[in-house]
Amino acid sequence: MAVGVFDSGLGGLTVLQAAQARLPEVDFLYYADSAHAPYGVRDADDVFELTQKAVHALWARGCDLVILACNTASAAALRRMQEGGLPDGKRVLGVFVPLIEALSERQWGDNSPPREVAVQHVALFATPATVASRAFQRELAFRAIGVDVEAQACGGVVDAIEDGDMILAEALVRSHVDALKRKMPSPQAAILGCTHYPLMEAEFQAALGADVKVYSQGALVAEALADYLTRHPGMLGTGEAGYLTTGDAARVSDRATQFLRRQISFVGV
Ligand code: DGL
Repeated sequence: MAVGVFDSGLGGLTVLQAAQARLPEVDFLYYADSAHAPYGVRDADDVFELTQKAVHALWARGCDLVILACNTASAAALRRMQEGGLPDGKRVLGVFVPLIEALSERQWGDNSPPREVAVQHVALFATPATVASRAFQRELAFRAIGVDVEAQACGGVVDAIEDGDMILAEALVRSHVDALKRKMPSPQAAILGCTHYPLMEAEFQAALGADVKVYSQGALVAEALADYLTRHPGMLGTGEAGYLTTGDAARVSDRATQFLRRQISFVGV
């Protein structure tokens, strides 16, 4: 019985780690489309096709519920997949909504009209594709009013993390935060809108300053998943736990082991 967790690469491990800590009794099957990462520089149709293929692969392995632990895939593919109709008994969920619920101080599933919230100046750091989609701003507008969002497309950060070049990743984080601050000098909160970025959370916090509240998705998505599984216990499926990649399994395993500081063994699909 396993829940599927999908990302273009290693970033979704930040969501997986939080979900495993919150739900130790649940098995997870992780799928990294490493051969096609990064997604953030692809166009929406391309991201949709790749995401759909990966989600179908997880469904075929018995994961009835798949979490898109990737903002780029959530922005380009989630709504389109759901509106296109899902196979019987299969579900797919994204990572935006739990974050927005937290920012807009709402309970999960609260469908009341949008209202004013405490935070008014928000910096959004995400991939170029997620920023271009404006999906985050659209979902936020359903729930909150009067929030000024300044988005910074963080080109290069995912590539550097996937390559294990953390010195480059750190330099890029600093330069993207500087660029954001030129547009919005005093953000109150910052959203790490790419699941790779929590691997650089300390660097984002240091560059932003201690007074900026940094939101990342792991724990929020894990909590939302726990709530979902309580309401839909039948969605645990029949899949087996494990780690799959479309890329070089040995290389991806090494990076994942380095990031999670425990042995992670991927197998190729
Ligand atoms: N972790 C993905 C996200 O949350 C990274 C996308 C990419 O591959 O560029 O957006």
